[in-house]
Amino acid sequence: MLSSFIQGYWRLAEWKMSPQQCLSFIKSHVELGITTVDHAHIYGDPSCESLFGDALKIDRSLRDRIEIVSKCGITLAIPGKAAHYNSSKQSILTSVEASLRRLGTDYLDILLIHRPDFLMDAEEIADAFSQLKQQGMVKYFGASNFTSAQLSLLGSRLDQGVVTNQIELNPISLDVLESGVLEYLQEIQIRPMAWSCLGGGAIFTSKSEKMQRLRSVLQELAGEIGATSIDQVIYAWLMRMPSKPLPILGSGKAQRTQSAARSVALSMSHEQWYRVWSASKGHGVP
Ligand SMILES: NC(=O)c1ccc[n+]([C@@H]2O[C@H](COP(=O)([O-])OP(=O)(O)OC[C@H]3O[C@@H](n4cnc5c(N)ncnc54)[C@H](OP(=O)(O)O)[C@@H]3O)[C@@H](O)[C@H]2O)c1
Repeated sequence: MLSSFIQGYWRLAEWKMSPQQCLSFIKSHVELGITTVDHAHIYGDPSCESLFGDALKIDRSLRDRIEIVSKCGITLAIPGKAAHYNSSKQSILTSVEASLRRLGTDYLDILLIHRPDFLMDAEEIADAFSQLKQQGMVKYFGASNFTSAQLSLLGSRLDQGVVTNQIELNPISLDVLESGVLEYLQEIQIRPMAWSCLGGGAIFTSKSEKMQRLRSVLQELAGEIGATSIDQVIYAWLMRMPSKPLPILGSGKAQRTQSAARSVALSMSHEQWYRVWSASKGHGVP
């Protein structure tokens, strides 16, 4: 249902691709087996879903070769109204209809609630999901940025459960490792989708002491495990975790996507994995 790596399209509007260039980019990662693409109703101005849909219009046969993930539940600020979360039935249905229209497709493979809504009514979400499933508009459902408790509550109301929780996972912010969410995902046997694996690019550019320390260990490990770049080491580090995260790639450069896909062949020992952990924490294990 989800490919081992996923191509993220949050930054598509920044890539300034023509529909033909976008189509070539999609084809380049599909050829590598990266068939799942990640979107959200709120990504980009102009809308990334629309830009992607414009590329799909050129070659409609591509739709059957990819799985489209999109998200709903965030309402952006407009003059006089604050940004907020809204996972009411009406908000979900309206959001999915708009996503489908922009993408030029009649179904999403997976729909995620983008952020936990503190006012969420799990039964109302289940009702919306059930309607979308019955109407053939969405095949599977999941969440993003949910705690284990939020995920457990939502899953308990759904007939087919959730298929993923999309979370921030990288060697820069390690809090998630101690939150229990990765263990919960293993317990219910679903895999996390990992966003901002490279810290949104900060791993290459930040001059902070922590990032310099991390970069130096990642470089050292690249030599040891046969990686050609530090991003490959990060993907190997993520995939070493028993929850088997599915990295979402954020680059718009086909070469970087190809390089990331090659990291599947890399392996890392316990000692090497903990060296990255220690570099991030700034101390060894207690
Ligand atoms: N659910 C959520 O709340 C949530 C939140 C954030 C993101 N996401 C999803 O996760 C996806 C990935 O997130 P992300 O874009 O933050 O991922 P990321 O991989 O951490 O960051 C991507 C950025 O890093 C740069 N980069 C990649 N490789 C590089 C290299 N070798 N050298 C220098 N710069 C490099 C890219 O620039 P180039 O394009 O120039 O390579 C791009 O600007 C998004 O597209 C979105 O689908 C979900």
